[in-house]
Amino acid sequence: MKAFVTGWAGYIGVHLVDLLKQAGHTVTGCDLGLFRGCEFESFVRPDVELQKDIRAISRSDLQGHDCVMHLAALSNDPMGEIDPSLTYSVNREGSIRLARVAKESGVPRFLFAGSCSVYGKGKDMDLDENAGFNPLSAYARSKIDTETEVRKLAGDGFSPVFLRNSTAYGFSPMLRLDLVVNDLLACAVARGDIRIKSDGKPWRPLIHCRDIARAFVAMAEAPPDSVHNVAVNVGANDENYQVKDVAARVQRLIPGAQVVFTGEIGSDPRDYRVKFDLLNKVLPGFRLSYNLDTGMEELLAKLREHKFGTKDYEGDAYVRLRTLKKRLGELSG
Ligand SMILES: NC(=O)c1ccc[n+]([C@@H]2O[C@H](COP(=O)([O-])OP(=O)(O)OC[C@H]3O[C@@H](n4cnc5c(N)ncnc54)[C@H](O)[C@@H]3O)[C@@H](O)[C@H]2O)c1
Repeated sequence: MKAFVTGWAGYIGVHLVDLLKQAGHTVTGCDLGLFRGCEFESFVRPDVELQKDIRAISRSDLQGHDCVMHLAALSNDPMGEIDPSLTYSVNREGSIRLARVAKESGVPRFLFAGSCSVYGKGKDMDLDENAGFNPLSAYARSKIDTETEVRKLAGDGFSPVFLRNSTAYGFSPMLRLDLVVNDLLACAVARGDIRIKSDGKPWRPLIHCRDIARAFVAMAEAPPDSVHNVAVNVGANDENYQVKDVAARVQRLIPGAQVVFTGEIGSDPRDYRVKFDLLNKVLPGFRLSYNLDTGMEELLAKLREHKFGTKDYEGDAYVRLRTLKKRLGELSG
């Protein structure tokens, strides 16, 4: 297969490129490189690298590919609140346009990196794909609008697939610490405390970032009829956790760390448990390779290996919002 991966140089994308190449596929990677200089470790690169804004991708860029895997986005809820128009421009308009260009270029499959955050603060718990949307941010709305519009393009040899991913955690060479599990663990390693921003009760479905990448590969390799125009929650039923469960695990790993409730519940009090039965039907052989315990142990070992400290935790490199603020010009200019 010849895969076109957008956002390849991000937290999930670098795992995806590695997995695709290990499986013998050829990879074109497109990325603006917003986080260049933020590498935690080195990583495998695509066969062809295109440093380009996804909003400028042309038919000739996509022709000859079997699948577009669209991960590029402003992948951050707070960013969407600071500049919603930029989030809509990249995440919504850019994604819808890209799907159109993919269809016009004869690319048969388009995998979209959606998010379980479309469910927002769940009215009911244990939400499946038919649950109502309840977006709490421009980021979540951009994911819903893209799904709605790109669905309409399905047919005539074009199969979009919408992966509604759980909240990611775990080690990646392009590490992010602005994700709840990674943040709690890194804070405990660097500062010796576990700072919970809510009351600890919100539920969240969690998944290792490499397992999201594995789901993309599996969706690309699945028979067309089984995935055509399907929206699928990506995660596992027994990987829904309350934030306080995560904190308890951090404390087990780092016994001296004290839990602190900061009380700053932001503007996105997401709270939902999600069901993943459809994923098991669509991809019968697919199972997550990590659970929260094994993923946290791996990340802890990596942080210790890198002698991760306060300077790293308080710096800009691993927090998308802090880096993006400095690079806004590259997106809006
Ligand atoms: N990390 C999570 O918890 C999570 C959960 C659900 C869904 N997702 C989705 O998965 C995708 C990847 O997330 P991530 O955590 O790897 O994010 P990331 O921020 O680490 O990576 C995003 C990549 O996209 C690139 N990019 C951004 N705007 C671009 C543009 N206009 N043109 C070209 N490249 C651009 C950036 O340079 C970056 O390398 C995103 O669509 C995100 O919304 C992530």
